[in-house]
Parts: sequence; C-alpha cells; structure tokens
Amino acid sequence: MEERNWKAYVNGDILPAKDAKISVFDRAVEYGDGVFEGIRCYDGKIFKLDEHLRRLFDSARATHIDIPLSYEDMKQAIKDTTRANGFREAHIKPIVSRGVGWRLGLDPTNLDKPNVIIQVRPIAKSMYEGAAGGLRLAVVSVRKVPAYCIDPRIKSVNYIVNILARAEAQASGADDAIMLDSQGLVSESSGANIFLVRRDALYTAPVHFGLEGITRETVLTLGKENGIPTNESPLTIYDVYTADEVFVSGSGAGVVPVIEVDKKPINEGKPGRVTNQIIKLYEEAVKTGEPVF
Ligand SMILES: Cc1ncc(COP(=O)(O)O)c(C=O)c1O
Repeated sequence: MEERNWKAYVNGDILPAKDAKISVFDRAVEYGDGVFEGIRCYDGKIFKLDEHLRRLFDSARATHIDIPLSYEDMKQAIKDTTRANGFREAHIKPIVSRGVGWRLGLDPTNLDKPNVIIQVRPIAKSMYEGAAGGLRLAVVSVRKVPAYCIDPRIKSVNYIVNILARAEAQASGADDAIMLDSQGLVSESSGANIFLVRRDALYTAPVHFGLEGITRETVLTLGKENGIPTNESPLTIYDVYTADEVFVSGSGAGVVPVIEVDKKPINEGKPGRVTNQIIKLYEEAVKTGEPVF
C-alpha cells in the first residue's frame, strides 16, 4: 500500500504514517473539539500558505485553543512535512485538537496541551474525482448551522453537518450538496463555496453564509483584475436555478464547474465560458505559491 510510505507530523516529530498516533482520549476524537486547515501544494509550491495559517490561528483563537507553536514554527512544520513526503502535488492538512481530556466531560480547561498533527496526501487535480466534466449538485434538507450558533469562519474538525448534507446529496444521485442557511438562502456545498454567473458577472454569498474561503477570495480578486464584475450578495435557490453558469471553489476542490442542479442542466450541462476563464486564471494563480523543495 502506497500509504505506508506517507509521513505525518505529530507534536514535533515527522513519522511514518503507521506510527503517527495520538491518544484515543483526544478531544478531537471524543467531541470533534479542534480546528484545521486544508492547503494545496501545486508543483512543489504551497499556495496561499499565510492566508491558511492566519485562518488556522483565527479558528483556534475563536475556539479558545492555544496552538502550542508560534506562527513561524507552524509554517516551518508544514513545509518540513510536505518536503518529507516529497509529493509535488499535495493536500496538506494541519489539525490542532484541544488536547487529551482524561476526565469525563466537556470542561475545556485543565487539559493536556493541544495536539498538533499535519497530514500530507498526494492529490491529482481535485478532491472531486472525475470532476473535470462538472459536478451535479442537489439542494438538501440539511441546513447550515447559523452564525449565531457557530460562526462559519471557524474551520472546526466537526464536519458532521456537511457530511450529512453530502450523504443526502449522494443518496439522490448527485455528487455534492447545496446547503441553505436557516432562512433558506444559499450557503455552500459540503466542502466548497458556490459561485453563480449571471450575464457575465460573478455572484457569491457574503462571507458569513459559509466558510470564508481562500479560493473564494482568490476568485473574486481574479474577477476584479480581469474585468469580470463581482457581487457578494445573499442568493436564493431562484438565483441558482436561473444562473447562466455555476461553479464551486475550494482548496481541495479547485475551481470546478457545476453542470446540473437538482437534476436540471446548467448551461445545457456544459462548463460555461466565464467558468472556463476563471479556471484558466486560477491555474495560473496557483503557480505563485511558496516553494518547499
Ligand atoms: C465547508 C467548506 N466551505 C468552503 C471551503 C473552501 O475554502 P477554501 O477555499 O479556503 O479552501 C471549504 C474548504 O475547502 C470547506 O470545507
């Protein structure tokens, strides 16, 4: 098995994947009590590393988790673990759990110090296998947890809502979900932000409707730099159904066209012109990351 040769970081050590372990009493295992990032390395260069690190430290601050590494040490650990694996095309996932909780119960104080893990996996183009032709999305009944409960900008390891949304979408024959918020407005898919194209302009929901995606921000910047009007405004299912084009954006996903929503074709079931333009611009942008080799 190829995975046996992977290496992972655990609290200061880079170990063979089979030896990379934390306690079964870890809070991330017991309660989903931790934060993480999903970062891409393209041709040996880590894309938007500082943006991901800032979001990781913000997620930790917002959940009162004290990352036991400085920003610079975390950055170095991410680079070292990526280099140790040797994959030029990689998905990198730093995870910080609140730590080991020996006593029963939710008390977030008096724990061992947080556990820091860094996983690195080889990845081809997108986490959506066979996505190049386009994704089929379904609007699901599972709703995004509102910002007055958990701010969606916190990238916590608790993805059960997103997993249930994805499961419901897949059960209906789609690849992924369109989650709505509690008001019925468009939030995001299970692991990516959603963009619509209408009359050659880009539309996406404002940041508090989903994760404040780093790819989302990159797409908005690329749009502005290339004369494509951009809008951040609340979106309804009406906007999705009547869009000229739809695509999703995310570090794991990349920029991926959506060709069907609720079994109805978008742009006659083909990736659209503006989507293809954004994909090309994004493919250029990802060449500008921080070299690790
Ligand atoms: C729920 C969710 N929304 C959106 C995104 C996209 O965020 P980013 O572009 O920062 O990877 C992700 C992660 O990739 C995610 O897990």
